[in-house]
Amino acid sequence: MSRVAILLALAVGDAQAGKMATLRPAAPRVARQAARVTLAAEHAATAEPRASPWSRQWLPAMPVSYADPTRPNACTLLGERLVIWKGATGWAAAEDACPHRLAPLSTGAVRADGTLACRFHGWRFDERGACVDVPSAPSPALGARLCASADTCVRSFPVAVRAGLVWVWLESGAEGAARAAATAVPALEGEEKLSWELNVQPISFESMVENSLDPSHAPFLHAGLGSFGATAGAIPMERPAISTKPSAEGFEMRHGGYDVRTAGMNATRRFAAPSLVDVRYAYRTGRATHFPIHFVPAAPFETRVLVGIQLPSVPRWVPERVRAALGDALHVLFFALDGTWRFNDQDRFTMAGQDSIQAEQPRRRQLAFDMATPSDVGVSTFRRWLALVGGGPFAAAERAAGSARPGSPNEALSRWDAHGRHCPRCRAAMRRFERARALGERAALASTALAVLALAVRSPAFASTAAAALALHGLARVFAGWQRSMLGRPAKEAWLEEVFQK
Ligand SMILES: *[C@@H]1O[C@H](CO)[C@@H](O)[C@H](O)[C@H]1NC(C)=O
Repeated sequence: MSRVAILLALAVGDAQAGKMATLRPAAPRVARQAARVTLAAEHAATAEPRASPWSRQWLPAMPVSYADPTRPNACTLLGERLVIWKGATGWAAAEDACPHRLAPLSTGAVRADGTLACRFHGWRFDERGACVDVPSAPSPALGARLCASADTCVRSFPVAVRAGLVWVWLESGAEGAARAAATAVPALEGEEKLSWELNVQPISFESMVENSLDPSHAPFLHAGLGSFGATAGAIPMERPAISTKPSAEGFEMRHGGYDVRTAGMNATRRFAAPSLVDVRYAYRTGRATHFPIHFVPAAPFETRVLVGIQLPSVPRWVPERVRAALGDALHVLFFALDGTWRFNDQDRFTMAGQDSIQAEQPRRRQLAFDMATPSDVGVSTFRRWLALVGGGPFAAAERAAGSARPGSPNEALSRWDAHGRHCPRCRAAMRRFERARALGERAALASTALAVLALAVRSPAFASTAAAALALHGLARVFAGWQRSMLGRPAKEAWLEEVFQK
């Protein structure tokens, strides 16, 4: 390894990040011991692992607005492949595998009676996962006998709908149903004002939660973007306070501003195990924002991110159709076109890079922890919580298999994989852009032909048809550009540099 110097602020009780120490990998032990002095108490507080918080929970799977009631919806939670569909009595969830030949049921169809039909051989299942039809059975009696066997049942899971989210209890069978029925779906103060959006990121749960509990990265990683201004706007953070004792249920952190814009604000970041980071800011101006995010572990390097957004209220006199069209247009602007993505790309590129390095060199993850500055207290407390509950959601599986590998940071930048393909509004916008692009191209071609004809017969219509051809061609290019933007493909040669320099 080259002599790469690591710069870090060993701000021991001193938030002035002026005390910079230069470390070389050859001598990390000294720094680790120095940092350990302040963190020893936190290490000591790490108790024996308690019961895993990962099962026997209501986990949010997707916003109701993302769940297609006419088709089965695929969704992975905690490594469990699920199919979620709207049955006769409401939303249902089952293992996404037909017991017959293990074809994914999410490629099947929802029938008019609310049963789920497998695409492969048409076997059908009800909301409890019981087989109700085997079309290829030679007689109804044999079909009924097959269906009565426990082997033809799909494992099904309790489902609840609350505050615009579909929640799944990942425990099948009668005991799971009883426990789910006896457990309320977690409430969230202000939930009635929220509208939810979904991204599925190819990044670990740990990196994503740590990023969201770490406000001091914002003026650096996002320097120059939107309201973040330049890095010069960063201010030293006073030691954020952990205001509730970390327990298996989570903890709460309070902190002040991290740049000139947020100076003097009061912020709370509450981590409610296992998935919620609830962020509330109270600015000096009296303005307040509420920004809850669920990070739901799907696979070792895949996290379902459900973001609650407070939408500005639209006056009542605006007709429903206009309201819906306006909502769709704004959604596509923010979630499909550039809007929030530059910001998001910077986080995603960095987190995917952390995942790659940590997967290759797991021991250095601990070293990074030992270098914590006071403003890292959210991250270090989250790691204490992880230790408290026996490791991350896939810790046991990873130890057993050691096979999961993170994707590359470049792959993490695909907007379509992260958002568009999961989002009904973006899929619809993509179809409309495609129709508009194809129509524009055909019309441009027709206008070009007309212009050539007009030129041949020396008609004065030449100029207008040629102008129309150019305009239509330009329009088609605009739609093609929007499609590329939705797919997250490079719009320019220097795409990667753009992530950090714009
Ligand atoms: C922040 O909290 C402190 C202490 O409770 C209070 O005095 C101050 O006014 C609060 N500031 C804002 C911007 O809410």
